[in-house]
Amino acid sequence: VGLAGVDVLAALHREAFDEPWSALALLELLVQSSGFALLAQGEPAQDGVALPLGFILCRIAGGTGEVLTLAVLPAARKQGVATALVRAAIVEAVSRGAEAIFLEVGENNDAARSLYAREGFVLVGRRSAYYRRSSGGSTDALVLRRAIAKVSS
Ligand SMILES: CC(C)(COP(=O)(O)OP(=O)(O)OC[C@H]1O[C@@H](n2cnc3c(N)ncnc32)[C@H](O)[C@@H]1OP(=O)(O)O)[C@@H](O)C(=O)NCCC(=O)NCCS
Repeated sequence: VGLAGVDVLAALHREAFDEPWSALALLELLVQSSGFALLAQGEPAQDGVALPLGFILCRIAGGTGEVLTLAVLPAARKQGVATALVRAAIVEAVSRGAEAIFLEVGENNDAARSLYAREGFVLVGRRSAYYRRSSGGSTDALVLRRAIAKVSS
């Protein structure tokens, strides 16, 4: 996804999260040289337009990858879209030199936790009351890590 795509990412994020990130916030993450976003799109319709279904935003720093956010439209869920995005992001992170990938996930986010566990992420830490809602209340974040197997030459 190039910089022109941030409005699409912001719209997807708004559909997926109660407290969405602005296009500007997404842009600031994307313009970092270490940042990248991958967009999933549906099959093109008769008019040739393929609707965006979801995206993943990551960055790489010092050999470590980080998933910053992952969002799939409610109507497109449970069809493997997020799984495909996570797998593609791992491939991209490896090509950019990452040796491990970290992320934070809400303790109560069963859908995301199940997906990450299936994709090889393991629990390495917990951040207490990491997600604070503007409406009050908070949720712990679990810190997950996926090692990347070294390919011997
Ligand atoms: C989490 C999210 C990205 C998953 O997207 P998705 O495209 O539905 O994921 P997939 O179709 O690839 O499903 C992956 C697995 O998640 C699991 N899953 C999906 N929804 C689930 C639910 N409500 N409860 C428990 N497990 C669930 C399934 O085990 C599924 O595996 P399966 O295909 O073997 O059954 C999506 O629900 C979402 O956008 N949620 C809101 C934003 C969010 O929480 N992002 C993650 C922040 S860390």
